[in-house]
Amino acid sequence: MRTIIEPFRIKMTEALPITTRGAREDCLAAAFNNVFLLDADCVTIDLLTDSGTGAMSDRQWSALMLGDESYAGSRSWRRFEQTVREITGFRHIFPTHQGRAAERILAATRLKKGNVVPNNGHFDTTRANIEYVGAVATDAPTTEARDLYSEKQFKGNMDLDALARLIEIEGAANIPFCMITVTNNTGGGQPVSMENIRRVKELLERRNIPLIIDACRFAENAFFIKQREQGFADRSLLDIAREMFSFADGATMSAKKDGLANIGGFLACNNDDWANDFRNLLILTEGFPTYGGLAGRDLEAISVGLMEALEYDYQRYRHATVDYVASALIARGVPIVRPAGGHAIFIDAAAFCPHLAPSDYPGIGLVNALYLEGGIRAVELGSVMFGKPAPDGGEIAAPHELVRLAFPRRVYTQSHFDYLIETLDAVWRRRASIKPYRITQQAPFLRHFTAHYEPAER
Ligand code: F0G
Repeated sequence: MRTIIEPFRIKMTEALPITTRGAREDCLAAAFNNVFLLDADCVTIDLLTDSGTGAMSDRQWSALMLGDESYAGSRSWRRFEQTVREITGFRHIFPTHQGRAAERILAATRLKKGNVVPNNGHFDTTRANIEYVGAVATDAPTTEARDLYSEKQFKGNMDLDALARLIEIEGAANIPFCMITVTNNTGGGQPVSMENIRRVKELLERRNIPLIIDACRFAENAFFIKQREQGFADRSLLDIAREMFSFADGATMSAKKDGLANIGGFLACNNDDWANDFRNLLILTEGFPTYGGLAGRDLEAISVGLMEALEYDYQRYRHATVDYVASALIARGVPIVRPAGGHAIFIDAAAFCPHLAPSDYPGIGLVNALYLEGGIRAVELGSVMFGKPAPDGGEIAAPHELVRLAFPRRVYTQSHFDYLIETLDAVWRRRASIKPYRITQQAPFLRHFTAHYEPAER
């Protein structure tokens, strides 16, 4: 059959708020024009993030009942450890309450002021945790990623020459570890090839620099490798994932993505000394090492979810959904990052709103227009999220003005996506009326979460 169906049926429903335009105008004004500050009850289709927003399966819900809530050495921990080890092969595994807790422990124990951490694309919390301890987070994405519209297959790859140059300039001793993010979220959800991971590892190994995989979307990346990279078509996703991790010395993971859970994460490594440091800080700030900030039942749900994320039919349906929306938008001329990513579609807000400058925050204008039009919540990844203060008191714009439509896992059906396409189509046809915005209040770190905006006249 040509039609790829959702490989599940629905056993429980959750009502969606169907709102009027007037109500949405009131909600957005009350949220200071920042969709992060909206009540979720005001949102019809929530594409703010694919993190912790997925639907658990009947197998996960029943696994919750098996949760062993013993403080130390619980059955649920053993099961979690076994599952994570089966997929990643790492010797030491530490549960954390989510991905950024793993990043914080890694950064706090391994980094000193002035150290440099390369990555194909740091996620914002990874960058913030590295910067928080005074180190420098550097991105070395492949040059192919600069062209948003090129159809190259592995635009999440690390630029090996740039990495080699960076090591030359900084010196290996100043780079306590290097990271590679699969898939590259901030770079458009683009995958990293097995060959690239292998070559990054070879380069680092010569200089004794450990490689850490940011594994949030490891299963989606494994599916891309199976689909696109020569020699992997007949391999299982589990087998591909294992090979990806075999090149790494450790991993940080947010189980809120490819753990198919609503909360959770882990930190893993092979080095015994690192593990000691991780364990000590984990006990101080997360919890005992056999639960690490999670309930036993969460560990159970994650153990099942990690394996479900590696089911071929699930990944095939998920990727088909993203492709379905991407093709519809491309057919209408909407400028989106190509090829479509694994967990999201990224709209080029600068091309969508050519009448707006980066300092007008076109991503915020587009996000707010989508909300007002159809109650859809998206997120800006542009000059609000990545802009930097300039020496003259102004701001250095981000390289791209993107808006992300992230797809929660197993939550929305095809008609929800048809509704999204219709909403985007309406906003696209009226794009000239998208407003510039100004920031009226902001925090020094991760300002996009809490900033207040107001529409500005130009
Ligand atoms: N790394 C990547 C690549 C991520 O996308 C995220 C989270 C994290 C680390 C942090 O994990 O949220 O569990 O602490 N990304 C979410 C997003 C928030 O919307 O893309 P966390």
